[in-house]
Amino acid sequence: MSDMLNIALPKGRLGEKVYAMFEKAGFECPSIRENNRKLIFENPEAGVRYFWVKPSDVAIYVERGAADIGVAGKDILLEYAPDVYELLDMQLGKCRMAVAAPVGFNDDDTRRRPLKVATKFENIARRYYASIGRDIDIIHLNGSIEIAPILGLSDVIVDIVETGTTLKENDLCVYEEILPISARLIANKANFKFKQQAIRKLTDSLQEQINTRTEVQA
Ligand code: PRP
Repeated sequence: MSDMLNIALPKGRLGEKVYAMFEKAGFECPSIRENNRKLIFENPEAGVRYFWVKPSDVAIYVERGAADIGVAGKDILLEYAPDVYELLDMQLGKCRMAVAAPVGFNDDDTRRRPLKVATKFENIARRYYASIGRDIDIIHLNGSIEIAPILGLSDVIVDIVETGTTLKENDLCVYEEILPISARLIANKANFKFKQQAIRKLTDSLQEQINTRTEVQA
């Protein structure tokens, strides 16, 4: 195992914000800002190696130790329950997991049969409906979930809502909120022991940055 800290970043705007915080914490890697198609960047002086990965894959890299740490959404952590440490709420990428339905939908009209639920987040949906004692028929989809109730494939969807624009543009609305979601710093359990010092230095700085940001917003 290399001495460098291996970090899986979620590709996209969230990952860029996360990198800016890591840079501020002393884990800079200037080459990452060169806008090319490269996916791995390292800076031996700062002892760091970054990888850009699909946001939903970060937890896999970290769970299996290919990355020591990474940043993943709470939605992914709840859905797949990877065996990792959750070190910090980054207070970024905030959104909600919600049940959404066509405007005017009322579950009282569908009570006599299982509710048809389309979602990418099967476990979260199953757990939620079990908690309220509602029978469901799950339809697993991989994207464009919003279309399902419009075409009659499902009654409702369980999905992430951020601004609400996608729902609005498809004549859907939030029916029930399930959970607040945000990005979390996660660590591989075994590697955490070996690289504790660097990880602690990073988490302390991140916590400080989060506190400062919260004070400024207040
Ligand atoms: C998510 C989610 C919604 C959308 C909500 O999709 O599945 O479609 O964002 O955002 P909004 O409330 O701001 O409109 P994402 O962009 O992550 O892509 P996906 O289709 O792969 O799920």
